[in-house]
Amino acid sequence: MSKLDLIGSSEKFRAVLDRIDMVAPVDSAVMIQGETGTGKEVIAQAIHQASPRRHSPFVAVNCAAIPSALLESELFGHERGAFTGAVAQTMGRFQSADRGTLFLDEIGDLPLDLQPKLLRVLQEMQIERLGSGRTIQLDVRVVAATNQDLWRMVQYRKFRADLYFRLNVFPITLPPLRERKDDIPFLVEHFVQKFARRQGKSIDCIPEEIMEVLVYHDWPGNIRELQNVVERAVIITKGPVLELQVAELMAHSAGSTAIKTLADAERAHIVATLEATNWVIGGRHGAATQLGLPRTTLITMMQRHRIFRETSAHPAETPELRAETYDRFFVPVPRARSQGSCSVQEPEDTDRVYQQSSPARRTAGGE
Ligand SMILES: Nc1ncnc2c1ncn2[C@@H]1O[C@H](COP(=O)(O)OP(=O)(O)OP(=O)(O)O)[C@@H](O)[C@H]1O
Ligand SMILES: [Mg+2]
Repeated sequence: MSKLDLIGSSEKFRAVLDRIDMVAPVDSAVMIQGETGTGKEVIAQAIHQASPRRHSPFVAVNCAAIPSALLESELFGHERGAFTGAVAQTMGRFQSADRGTLFLDEIGDLPLDLQPKLLRVLQEMQIERLGSGRTIQLDVRVVAATNQDLWRMVQYRKFRADLYFRLNVFPITLPPLRERKDDIPFLVEHFVQKFARRQGKSIDCIPEEIMEVLVYHDWPGNIRELQNVVERAVIITKGPVLELQVAELMAHSAGSTAIKTLADAERAHIVATLEATNWVIGGRHGAATQLGLPRTTLITMMQRHRIFRETSAHPAETPELRAETYDRFFVPVPRARSQGSCSVQEPEDTDRVYQQSSPARRTAGGE
């Protein structure tokens, strides 16, 4: 596991690890379900690594990435001359995975006409290369993954029920990152060190306010999105203190599918509009006009949602909305269990407001 750098210790993630431990030693088919970027492929590799097959190949096939006309020969192989363009004999991924694990990724995209063939191979553990009458006996453990609702696809006859049941012997559902926020600080630490090492940098301080923004974000793209954001943050960081363009993250949040309530959506829409108008509220091109609201109504809504502008060096000070132009904004975030490796002086009141980046505060406590 450590070789795979599987980070996480939240209850939900530990439940996933328990299921890996249960199923790895046996040869049963596993179906991994989860939103994009939740780690389906790394979990498939973890199952392989924890299984007695770990010294044999782990072969991945992305059913969505291979044109359907080629998928059959990609899976089962072909003889030379089996079809136009088959200039040489090809082994096929099933045979490559013999004695190991075959990972059928994006299984929901497997064409319907190929599904009965796959079922037959899984049941008999025998393949015939295209253009060959010879049967090859195999020993392959199959792990499949999808981010689609496969059962619904079965109901709509987009996926065969018999294949569904054959693959879904032991389901593992990966929780989205927003449901295991406890893991975010550890993942952030891990990715910061990983990318800093790669980029030849030394970053030893993750400001607490940055960590809290990262914990607060909903991460519709899950761990992959977090990883990309941290990689970008490491690229722009010049010193030992991690820098992050919070505004960019918030702008993405505005369009996030993870927005839960009408109030969340309203708040995100206001922030996005303010961003778009460069924090100009009034006037013909201001945010209020864009939103079809009187200026005073928008200000009231900003106060209600606690979208503040910076008016003093102390970001915890409740600002008054005096000017019309905002070059920075603060967003209140709930108190999170942050693992920031350098801490920031906590203000007395609980309703904190945070800024994009402020070197003075970022290094506080970390120097
Ligand atoms: N628990 C974890 N700890 C550390 N890194 C992880 C973890 N889970 C996933 N990752 C990283 O997140 C990225 C996305 O993981 P992966 O490709 O396995 O997701 P996926 O669910 O297959 O995504 P998609 O549905 O888009 O194919 C990878 O770079 C992977 O290394
Ligand atoms: Mg994947």
